[in-house]
Amino acid sequence: MSLLVQSYHALSEARQRRWRLVRRWVPRQVRWLYEGCLEVPGQLWYADRKLLYGAIREHKPKTVFEVGTWYGGGSTYFISQALHENGGGVLHTIEENAEAHARAKENYARHLPHLLPHVVFHQGKSTEVYPALLRELGAVDAVFLDGGQDAQQTLTEFEMFAPHMGPQTLLLAHDWDNEKMALLRPKLEASKEWKLLACATAPESVGFVVWQKK
Ligand SMILES: C[S@@+](CC[C@H](N)C(=O)[O-])C[C@H]1O[C@@H](n2cnc3c(N)ncnc32)[C@H](O)[C@@H]1O
Repeated sequence: MSLLVQSYHALSEARQRRWRLVRRWVPRQVRWLYEGCLEVPGQLWYADRKLLYGAIREHKPKTVFEVGTWYGGGSTYFISQALHENGGGVLHTIEENAEAHARAKENYARHLPHLLPHVVFHQGKSTEVYPALLRELGAVDAVFLDGGQDAQQTLTEFEMFAPHMGPQTLLLAHDWDNEKMALLRPKLEASKEWKLLACATAPESVGFVVWQKK
């Protein structure tokens, strides 16, 4: 797999050292998508990040929900940076693991303070914490699903968001080509309510999709 397919944080330490020697010759936007924020570990590969960041910049959602913060340097970073560049919008992100949640909050306070107006970090299980917030906010403009490797959990999360998704709402998901999406994927592919706007697949991705409600 070529160097620029995955991401900086997916490299071994030796390859990260080599990358830091050559990075200055890589075009700025390519480098940024590949690296994210060097100090904040994140998942998602280059092609996923490009689609995610591009979708948030293009559609300009105001209220975004995410499942799966981890340390905050992957999807959370690319969504909140896009909201910042859009000039408005708030991402609600949730992480079940208390240690990862605390690290993500510290990472933003220390390395990404300009994004704090655009991110609210929640700790707990998505289906326990989000329902009250969804009732309070009413509608969501975009949802990104990247939680546990559990097909039933992913479907339950989608069903939790579904009553709050109107026309034009975006649904983005990672791991589209694996077991995590085994229940949600056939449901969306059979639905007449959703259209697929973009997708990335192997070898550039383990599956990343952007859907929009009609
Ligand atoms: C694949 S990682 C997320 C990666 C992150 N989106 C990124 O781009 O760097 C999945 C995360 O979801 C968390 N998680 C799993 N099930 C969850 C749930 N029901 N509610 C909240 N977080 C959950 C896990 O603890 C894990 O940190």
